Amino acid sequence: MKDTIRQLIQHALARLADDGVLPPGAAPAIQVDDTKDKSHGDFASNIAMVLAKPAGLKPRDLAEKLLAALPADPQISKVEIAGPGFLNFTQDGQALARRLDAALQDARLGVRKGSPAQRVVVDLSSPNLAKEMHVGHLRSTIIGDAVSRVLEFLGDEVIRQNHVGDWGTQFGMLLAYLQEKPEAGETDLADLEGFYRAAKQRFDESPAFADHARELVVQLQAGEPECMRLWRRFNAISLSHCQQAYDRLNVKLAPADVRGESTYNDDLANVVGDLRDAGLLVESDGAQCVFLDEFRNAEGNPLPVIVQKAGGGYLYASTDLAATRYRSRVLKADRALYFVDQRQALHFQQVFEVARRAGFVHPGMQLEHMGFGTMNGADGKPFKTRDGGTVKLIDLLDEAQARAYALVKEKNPALAEDELRHIARVVGIGSVKYADLSKHRSSDYSFNFDHMLSFEGNTAPYLLYAYTRVASVFRKLGRDDAGDLPGRIRLDAPHEQELAARLAQFGEVLVQVGEKGTPHTLCGYLYDLAGLFSSFYEHCPILAAGDEATQQSRLRLAALTGRTLRQGLELLGLETLERM
Ligand code: ARG
Repeated sequence: MKDTIRQLIQHALARLADDGVLPPGAAPAIQVDDTKDKSHGDFASNIAMVLAKPAGLKPRDLAEKLLAALPADPQISKVEIAGPGFLNFTQDGQALARRLDAALQDARLGVRKGSPAQRVVVDLSSPNLAKEMHVGHLRSTIIGDAVSRVLEFLGDEVIRQNHVGDWGTQFGMLLAYLQEKPEAGETDLADLEGFYRAAKQRFDESPAFADHARELVVQLQAGEPECMRLWRRFNAISLSHCQQAYDRLNVKLAPADVRGESTYNDDLANVVGDLRDAGLLVESDGAQCVFLDEFRNAEGNPLPVIVQKAGGGYLYASTDLAATRYRSRVLKADRALYFVDQRQALHFQQVFEVARRAGFVHPGMQLEHMGFGTMNGADGKPFKTRDGGTVKLIDLLDEAQARAYALVKEKNPALAEDELRHIARVVGIGSVKYADLSKHRSSDYSFNFDHMLSFEGNTAPYLLYAYTRVASVFRKLGRDDAGDLPGRIRLDAPHEQELAARLAQFGEVLVQVGEKGTPHTLCGYLYDLAGLFSSFYEHCPILAAGDEATQQSRLRLAALTGRTLRQGLELLGLETLERM
């Protein structure tokens, strides 16, 4: 709807430009918002205020001219001028009802695919394999997963890339430890975190061990077979831990999506060579660097992007440069989205800029760092275990599930054990994910079990429960919401109209999530929808509706709400329950 209104305004602007009312070439972004008070229309645009000055008119006068120039549209029943010069649009109730009736017939709920479809590389999760996945990787994993799902639903081709850290000097230490304790290797590796700590301790206390570890790094880089065998084994075990976490989190990531840092090793010398040929390299203290004018330190001196160390070693940035050109040339991406901690913002700005200058990516390719903030504990400080260690992701999920179990059992002691466990899993995992997804990704947030498991507010339990309420409407009528429902949607009561207007916005919300990489917009939308359904249900009886046509209409609205909630939650990577 907002898109339609934008197009109408666009038309009006073009007409006024032709008539000389507006200066030629003025093409501002047209903002269309939901109105707070629906008695003044459903949508409002401030365009007349934005263009009043360049047009040399008072906002209200410009609004008058725009109003006269607006083409008619069957979906809009009324346009009015309000306040200082807002254009307020009222949606046509019958057109809206018809749209929702059509959505009900459609497996895509009336959401159109974007055209043209794009090929989008999504860089997500990407933990370092030397250690166990910790809570910090939750965000890159689930935010990236949700955005990938939304883009796919909108028709894009998504190529997931799990850019795991599977290379680097810390592997020398780990391999040395694995060699030292071959028998214990398998069992100790069940606890990667403990293994890492033990290896680090040996490294710190024994100079001989440390020397050997360094020697193994050299051998690994030279591709020495025994070393490579150990390295592969280590990574396979570490990756299987990650895969367990993905499966448990209901995240669509598979072993085939892994393309770790090491896969670019053979290309790193070319990257450096090509940068040299492009005239971008400068040697500084023996290191190969690219200096970009726009990145300077506090003293105003240009910051180097180091691509090769004085000793010949490569860096994180070198690998990322190789990855950008793989994503452009081989994967032929139109867009590449990087779901990585906000603290790496400078790194990505630099990598993207160097990649562009060197021609590693085709000029039309979008490179976007979708940064996210830190996950803190309930106390607002970085999330740690009681003894100050990093919190393992798996432990966190175990605890969420255990807490959900206790909660559900208390609410519903009569449930069979199997069902109780199933509900606890869906609620527990869903709560952890939803708490994260519902916050704007760029802000830090506090992890708090009590909040996320609450049945009130913008939480997973609230939404899952809202969905079961819709399901129960159908159960009470002795049927489920499947197949064709008779009748038509009629929008008479204000609560019906409000719910309907929000239902019709599902598609545009998804487009926004896909463009900006912000699942919290979808969470906010679903939360709103659940609230509107609740008021509708309270004010517009379904089971006790006076006549059959009204009951059918309301049931159809309920069905579309249920389907939208389920589809929305699925796109966020949450499972739903029929009862809880
Ligand atoms: N392994 C890195 C880390 O844990 C994240 C990698 C993100 N992706 C990338 N292309 N740099 O911090």
